[in-house]
Amino acid sequence: MELNAIEVEKFRARTQRSKELWERTKEVIPTGHAGGMGYFLPHAILVERGKGCWLWDVDGNRYLDLRIGDWVLIHGHCDDDIEAAVAHQMSRLVQVGGPEWDLGYRMACLIRDRTPSVDKVRFFVSGTDANLTAVRLARVFTGRMKIAKAMGSYHGTADVLLVGTSILRDPAEMIPSGVPAWTATDVVEIPYNDPDGAEAIIEREAANLSAVFIEPVMTAMGMVEATVEFLQRVREVTARHGIVLVFDEVVTFPIAYGGGQAHFGVTPDLTTFGKAIGGGLPASAVGGRAEIMDLLEPDMHSGAAPMGVMSTFGGNQVAMAAGIATLEKLTPEVHERMNALGDRTRARIDELGRRYSIPLHSTGLGHLIGIHWAEERVVDMRTRLLDDREKIVNINLALNNEGYYQTFTGLFLLSTAIGDQEIDGFLLALERSLHTLGYAK
Ligand SMILES: Cc1ncc(COP(=O)(O)O)c(C=O)c1O
Repeated sequence: MELNAIEVEKFRARTQRSKELWERTKEVIPTGHAGGMGYFLPHAILVERGKGCWLWDVDGNRYLDLRIGDWVLIHGHCDDDIEAAVAHQMSRLVQVGGPEWDLGYRMACLIRDRTPSVDKVRFFVSGTDANLTAVRLARVFTGRMKIAKAMGSYHGTADVLLVGTSILRDPAEMIPSGVPAWTATDVVEIPYNDPDGAEAIIEREAANLSAVFIEPVMTAMGMVEATVEFLQRVREVTARHGIVLVFDEVVTFPIAYGGGQAHFGVTPDLTTFGKAIGGGLPASAVGGRAEIMDLLEPDMHSGAAPMGVMSTFGGNQVAMAAGIATLEKLTPEVHERMNALGDRTRARIDELGRRYSIPLHSTGLGHLIGIHWAEERVVDMRTRLLDDREKIVNINLALNNEGYYQTFTGLFLLSTAIGDQEIDGFLLALERSLHTLGYAK
């Protein structure tokens, strides 16, 4: 991967303190990143504070935050209402082993009342926890062991979920290092946005399939939205064979009031939630049809539930308080405004591609935006592999030098704290970057 020398020079000149502190951190933490996901090239930027849609790094640079804590901060940084809810809860009750009287109930109702597939919910900490619980629920419900997932998809950092993910592997290899080969025998890959191809594989494997996992907008492919036809077909074939359809809405839940399933009008059996629902604190959930969720209920099974599940921090009171404050502010009107901004951004990116006759285009829905540099529009794994990653990385580097903070993979995530003015600035900076890099003439 060749980075543009002039942009690298600019980047280094304004992030010297970041580099020093990053090198110090690397002595004790591999990658220099305490958690989370990938960092910046040529080196990490170390962030000091954030407010609303803005972030400041240790060198004093200010950025518009288009990464929102990796799909988390849907209301931006240090939102006043979330901060007040957290401060209030910190002084009352932080964590209790048994049930607390109110917060879990209210948070569960907020999710249930807006999400078509959800009768009941159970809380966890990470998206990985939620998806692993959905895998087990589906296995216990159906008595079958295999799961199917879209080629290249990422559903969390656990063996069975990592098989086939394009994030950690060469696309040609199915099993990331450290994952036992036998795990792969439990995983079936289906092609995203290919209704016939997916249906044929699900039909063939049906007798052994407990669950099919799908994201309504596929994150690992660079925010590629599903087609309604694909989701409907997967719904039909799974229903026909008694296979549990799971929508992983860890990323997509904020694309509409009620998540991707409400947007597309396709209802899964189970849904997993994470990231944004905790308002910046760790919270995740599995929700779904009562018939499946009740496998966790001892009182319906003579005192011994068919499936036990534990999570020390699941439903942590501060996370629930932050989650309630977050979802209460995520009204249909707020979704509408954010989605209109997302649509406008995507349309203007596509227009730039047309204006300069370059293969730049965008994908995504709601607040999720992906950019691609590929002659064919990216709609599935085949077209995704045509993406010119070097161009995308360099565009991100140039945008970073312009004061925009995002991953280097071509993803731009909006929060409700971002307005038209910031997006206009971003689009102008993108256009300038195309010129400085020599990509647009
Ligand atoms: C679609 C999807 N599902 C699940 C996960 C896992 O979530 P977590 O990192 O909280 O375990 C991720 C993480 O990025 C994700 O993108």
